[in-house]
Amino acid sequence: MISNHLLFKLASGEVFGPDQPIALKLLGSERSFEALEGVAMELEDSLFPLLREVSIGIDAYEVFQDADWALLIGAKPRGPGMERADLLDINGQIFAEQGKALNAVASRNVKVIVVGNPCNTNALICLKNAPDIPAKNFHALTRLDENRAKCQLALKAGVFYDKVSNVTIWGNHSTTQVPDFLNAKINGIPVKEVIKDTKWLEEEFTEMVQKRGGVLIKKWGRSSAASTAVSVVDAIRSLVTPTPEGDWISSGVYTAGNPYGIAEDIVFSMPCRSKVSVSKESLSCNIPLLKLSSKISSNFLLLHS
Ligand code: LMR
Repeated sequence: MISNHLLFKLASGEVFGPDQPIALKLLGSERSFEALEGVAMELEDSLFPLLREVSIGIDAYEVFQDADWALLIGAKPRGPGMERADLLDINGQIFAEQGKALNAVASRNVKVIVVGNPCNTNALICLKNAPDIPAKNFHALTRLDENRAKCQLALKAGVFYDKVSNVTIWGNHSTTQVPDFLNAKINGIPVKEVIKDTKWLEEEFTEMVQKRGGVLIKKWGRSSAASTAVSVVDAIRSLVTPTPEGDWISSGVYTAGNPYGIAEDIVFSMPCRSKVSVSKESLSCNIPLLKLSSKISSNFLLLHS
C-alpha cells in the first residue's frame, strides 16, 4: 500500500526533480509477483516522461544491483493491538538479507531508508549486514512522526503547517518516542511561548504523536499508507536539499559519535541537517533514453525498453 502511493510520486519527478530520469526496480516475493506486475503496468500506462525503466524481481541480489536509493518498505505490518516491536522476529530476517544484498551489489554510496517496522532496529540490522556501505547512509523513517507532530502543533496554534519548524522526534519510531516541543518553533518563536497550554503539550500532544499509528490502525483496520509515502518523499527531499538555515529534520540514524550522549551503536532518531545537495552525477540513474536491457528474464519485466 505504501509503495503503491510512493512509486507514482517517484516516477512523476516530485521527489528528485523534473530533470532527473529514474529507473524503478521493484523487489517482491513469489506471492506478490502478480501484484507487482499490475503495479508495473499502471506505471507504464501513466506515461511518466522521466520514468525510463521499471523492472521487477524477487531476488534482492538482482534487484538491488547498482541501486542509488533503497527504500526498504516490504515487511509484515502490525495489526490492531500489536506493538511494532512484536514484528521483530518476523521482519528482522528480511532486513538482514536485504543488508547483505545491498552490501554485495548496490552502489557504494547507496542511501537506504528503512520503513518496515520496527524500523530503527531493522535499520540497525540492515547496516550491520552491509559493512561496506557507510553507516551514515542508513535512515530509519521518523519523518512521519515529525509530520504528525507538526500537524498537531499547527492545529493547536491555529497556524498553517509551514509555520512550524525545529521539530525533533527523539528515539524510536514507537510509543516510547519523544516528540520535542521544547525546541520546536512556531513562526520562529518557541512553541511554549505560543501554545500556553502546558498540560496539553506535556500530556495530550506527546501521546497523540506516539500513538497516532495505532489509532489509525484501529480506525482503518490497516496501517498508514498514503501519509507514510508522503513522509518518505519528504525524507528523501530533505536529504538531497540543503536544510534551511536554523532548521533541522528528524531521522533515525546510526549513533556513532553523536553529540547528545545517546548510547553508541544503535539507530536513534535525532535532529539532522543535510549540508550539501547530492550531486546530479551521484543521483543519476545512468541510463540512456532508450535502454535495451539484457536483464529480461521470466522474473523481470522491463518497460520503456
Ligand atoms: C505508523 O506509524 O503509522 C506506521 O509505523 C505503522 C504502524 O504500525 O503504526
